[in-house]
Amino acid sequence: MNLLDVVILAAGKGTRMYSDKPKVLHALAGKAMVQHVVDCAKKLDPQQIVVVYGHGGDAVPLALKTSDVLFAIQEPQLGTGHAVQQAMSHLDDEGQTLVLYGDVPLIQHATLHQMQQAGSGLTLLTVNMDNPAGYGRIVRNGQGDVTGIVEQKDATEDELLIREVNTGIMLAPTRQLRTWLAKLRTNNSQGEYYLTDIVGMAVADGIAVHTAQPGQEWEIHGINSKSQLAVLERTWQQVEAQRLLSQGVTLADPDRIDVRGALGCGRDVEIDVGCIFEGNVTLGNRVQIGAYCIIRNASIADGTQIAPYSHIDSSDVGENCRIGPYARLRPGSKLHDDVHVGNFVEIKNSEIDKGSKANHLSYIGDTTIGSRVNIGAGTITCNYDGANKFRTIIEDDVFIGSDTQLVAPVTVAKGSTIGAGSTITRNTPEGELTLSRSKQMTISGWSRPVKKAISK
Ligand code: UD1
Ligand code: CA
Repeated sequence: MNLLDVVILAAGKGTRMYSDKPKVLHALAGKAMVQHVVDCAKKLDPQQIVVVYGHGGDAVPLALKTSDVLFAIQEPQLGTGHAVQQAMSHLDDEGQTLVLYGDVPLIQHATLHQMQQAGSGLTLLTVNMDNPAGYGRIVRNGQGDVTGIVEQKDATEDELLIREVNTGIMLAPTRQLRTWLAKLRTNNSQGEYYLTDIVGMAVADGIAVHTAQPGQEWEIHGINSKSQLAVLERTWQQVEAQRLLSQGVTLADPDRIDVRGALGCGRDVEIDVGCIFEGNVTLGNRVQIGAYCIIRNASIADGTQIAPYSHIDSSDVGENCRIGPYARLRPGSKLHDDVHVGNFVEIKNSEIDKGSKANHLSYIGDTTIGSRVNIGAGTITCNYDGANKFRTIIEDDVFIGSDTQLVAPVTVAKGSTIGAGSTITRNTPEGELTLSRSKQMTISGWSRPVKKAISK
């Protein structure tokens, strides 16, 4: 079995991002570019992943602190060869080293796997481009064997016509890589240690040089500006939209959906325009998502309909529920089957059992609601006394009249009814009507004040 280490180059300044943040921390599809690369590298099950960073102080190590990777600082930045050299002390001579780039975020596992299959020796990931401007060119001899890479700025007129370019991604035997890097010189137009110069050294040492191509060209697109980032973001969103369509999801418009994470869908799912899915979201069979919903880290079970402009965050929704429009489920909400949540209802850290309804203008926080409960319009759970939070328990078959405040901790027992406009501060008895409301009275003969005439 081949031992593998991965080096991710991420020391470049990113001048053209015009940002105080290191370039590789800018997000694509809701995740830092370098995190995409780390996550992809992990799929290869390497021994070590070493991230070479430079700008932004500890920002890059901080952002990756839970990713179980090693770091090497490159200061100053003297070229790609110099960058790889900074990681060498972490690498195992018995294995191979894969070089990736923190600003080439969409490289895919299948492509890297294909590079691993290319054979022993040095493997370069190359692509043929109609417009190769700016890239290093792959130079081959009469037999078609790679003899070297020449940078655009060092290329002859003939070499500039070559359309096969170096993506920068390569897989090298680590022991040889170490000796080649030690021999790099800066006698080129940019005065840098070029990683690409190791290709000529491999050829001189009689090491086989293979090439592999990416599954799709967008995998090797590097990001130097916000404009390139926006283009690649859109490309990725189109890839995600096509993936969903190919699985049978109905998208009202594949150009108007954003998936920032992993979206899994059952059969006959329909998604209207403008929706954003973040983190891990699963939608069951026949789920319908209305326009402009934002759904993050949530599961929504079969047959549930989410009406437009609803926000669902870190919550689970059961089968055949009706949510929204304009509903907000905050973290820790668990809705069982057949629950209805209507407009301007906010639910936080609460469990609502089967068949219960809160259809209008409510706040339900830190609450456990049983089955078949009706929460009247404007009902509020007062869960916070300014210092501590308390729970509200509403048992099965309760009816809460409109505009009620339930001051926690409080339990509304099974089958009880709360009269509209009540402020409930003590537990209510099972099956009874409880209300706290001053009696309605009429003052007969009362007349409205009239505007006084102002004397001049
Ligand atoms: C490099 C390749 C070129 C290839 C191109 C693909 C070399 C000499 N050339 O050129 O053949 O076609 O990438 O985009 O390798 N970096 C560091 N430290 C450094 C220098 C660079 O970490 O000292 C990182 C950068 O952050 C960037 C990557 O390496 O992610 C590439 O560096 P860049 O200077 O953009 O190389 P190119 O000139 O584009
Ligand atoms: Ca570049």
